[in-house]
Amino acid sequence: MISVKNLTMRLTAGGRTITILDNVSLDIPAKQMVAIVGPSGSGKSTLLGLMAGLDRPTSGSIILDGMEITGLPERDITRYRRQKIGYIFQSFHLIPTLTALENVAVPLELNGDAAADERANELLAAVGLRDRSGHYPVQLSGGEQQRVAVARAFACRPPILLADEPTGNLDSATGRQVIDLLLGINRDHGSTLVLVTHDQALAENAERIVSLRDGRIESDKPSGR
Ligand SMILES: Nc1ncnc2c1ncn2[C@@H]1O[C@H](COP(=O)(O)OP(=O)(O)OP(=O)(O)O)[C@@H](O)[C@H]1O
Ligand SMILES: [Mg+2]
Repeated sequence: MISVKNLTMRLTAGGRTITILDNVSLDIPAKQMVAIVGPSGSGKSTLLGLMAGLDRPTSGSIILDGMEITGLPERDITRYRRQKIGYIFQSFHLIPTLTALENVAVPLELNGDAAADERANELLAAVGLRDRSGHYPVQLSGGEQQRVAVARAFACRPPILLADEPTGNLDSATGRQVIDLLLGINRDHGSTLVLVTHDQALAENAERIVSLRDGRIESDKPSGR
C-alpha cells in the first residue's frame, strides 16, 4: 500500500547541507497499523510528510496504492492525496473561521459530495461530537478539536491515514480517546494507519514499530501487542 524506496532528504541550512533522511526503505501493506518512533529530530515528521507528498525528496521514490507519486506534477499529487490520504497534525490544523461541521464538510465538498453536511453530521456523531457541530475551533477543547480533525481526515474514507503525534498536545486520557478512534477506523474500515509518536506505550497499540535514529531505520519489528 505504501512503498518507500531508498528515500533520502537533504536540506541546506546556513550554508551547510544536512541529511534528514538517509536511504530509508519501508513497505507498509494495506490495512497495517504501524507506529514510527524515534528521538526528536530523527526525521519522523519529514518521512510522514514525504509519504503524503507534502514535500519532495532529494532522491528515492514513494509508491502509494500502486502509484509512484515522486515524479508527478504538483497538481496531480494534490488530487491523488485527496483521494488516498487523510492527514492528522499534532496541532489539529482546523480552519478557525469554520464550525466543526463545516471543517469536516470541506473535503466532502471538494470531492463533490452532494450530501456533504449530512455526512459531516454523521462523522461528528461518530467521534462523539454531535452536539458540538456549530462550535468554532476556539470553542472546543484540544481533544474535541483533534476528534474533529480525525473526522475530517476520514471524511472521504481514504485508504491511508497518516497521523503525526496526534496526541502530542493532549493529556493522556484525552489522547487515549483519539487513539481508540484511530484504532477503530483501522479495525472497522481496514484503513492503513501510520502513527508517529514519542510515546512507547501508544506505539505498542500498533502491529509494527519502526524506530528512526538520525534519519535511518534503527529497528523494524512487530510490537508486543
Ligand atoms: N525546512 C527545514 N530546514 C532545515 N532543517 C530542517 C527542516 N525541516 C526539518 N529539519 C531538520 O530535520 C531534522 C528532522 O526533523 P523532523 O521534523 O522530521 O524530526 P522529528 O523526528 O519529527 O522530530 P520531533 O519528534 O521533534 O517532531 C531535524 O534536525 C530538523 O531540524
Ligand atoms: Mg515531528
